[in-house]
Amino acid sequence: MTGAPPPAGSAAATGAPVLAVDGLDVHYGRRRRRRPALKGVTLSVARGETVGVIGETGSGKSTLARAVLGLVRASAGSITVGGEEVTGHGAGKWRALRRRGVVQYVFQDPLRSLDPDLTIADSLVEPLILAGVARAEALTRARAFLDRVRLAGDLLDRLPGELSGGQRQRVAVARALVTEPELVILDEPVSALDSANRVQVLEILKDLRATGVAIVMISHDLGSVAGIADRVAVLYRGELVEVGTAREVIDTPRHPYTRLLVSSAPTLHTAPADRAERDALRALLHA
Ligand SMILES: Nc1ncnc2c1ncn2[C@@H]1O[C@H](COP(=O)(O)OP(=O)(O)O)[C@@H](O)[C@H]1O
Ligand SMILES: [Mg+2]
Repeated sequence: MTGAPPPAGSAAATGAPVLAVDGLDVHYGRRRRRRPALKGVTLSVARGETVGVIGETGSGKSTLARAVLGLVRASAGSITVGGEEVTGHGAGKWRALRRRGVVQYVFQDPLRSLDPDLTIADSLVEPLILAGVARAEALTRARAFLDRVRLAGDLLDRLPGELSGGQRQRVAVARALVTEPELVILDEPVSALDSANRVQVLEILKDLRATGVAIVMISHDLGSVAGIADRVAVLYRGELVEVGTAREVIDTPRHPYTRLLVSSAPTLHTAPADRAERDALRALLHA
């Protein structure tokens, strides 16, 4: 991090949360096909905080990420990013906000986060140049960031297709963080990785928290976020049904869906719920 004072209006300057989502509704489709994907979601992320957002497929996790990035419209509620109300922004203002690099995004599939025709060096330099950094300085920073994600500097001249899946995802993480954003949203960043790479990427994210970046990590797997998240938020059918510290959510889950998640992840606790309890919870949820 640089020693420069934070820009006026940034979360650091105002002490405001990096991200504040309040009463957010998002719908897909028009008229008779209109369906809610998020219903009254309220969640705030403090500066430097890591929040895990968990939920099953279709619960609205990616929609929440897309709404925060201005890629889908809110039909009600508000979103504040870095202290700035962004809900009413048009496409141009969203682009400008993304270009400033306040908030960055990592997809589940690293091939979507990286341009297959750009070398790793160019992939890392591009967001810095967009943010106004000179090329030589950008290259120096890119090289330093590769080290942070435990990749060797000789990868800089390669193309994404020449890297393993785990290496590519680490490059995608480096690309998102190289501009020193206030907030990074990672959408299922380890779901496509094998267990060795998964552990490595989770450890890197843990280390990167020390830079002061706030992290929103989306996962369908409570086990993947429990070790790194300060707080865990549980999405169920478009609604945020539970928010608490990872310990609270694991030890005293309140919503039946959270209880099911916890009991389905036996590594999280010493006394896994028995099968009968899991079946009862499933029956309750799908009633
Ligand atoms: N582009 C879209 N058009 C219509 N429906 C969508 C679209 N994207 C997602 N949905 C629907 O919105 C709901 C939430 O999806 P999503 O946010 O992708 O969930 P998750 O990331 O938790 O799997 C699902 O019911 C999904 O089918
Ligand atoms: Mg998703």
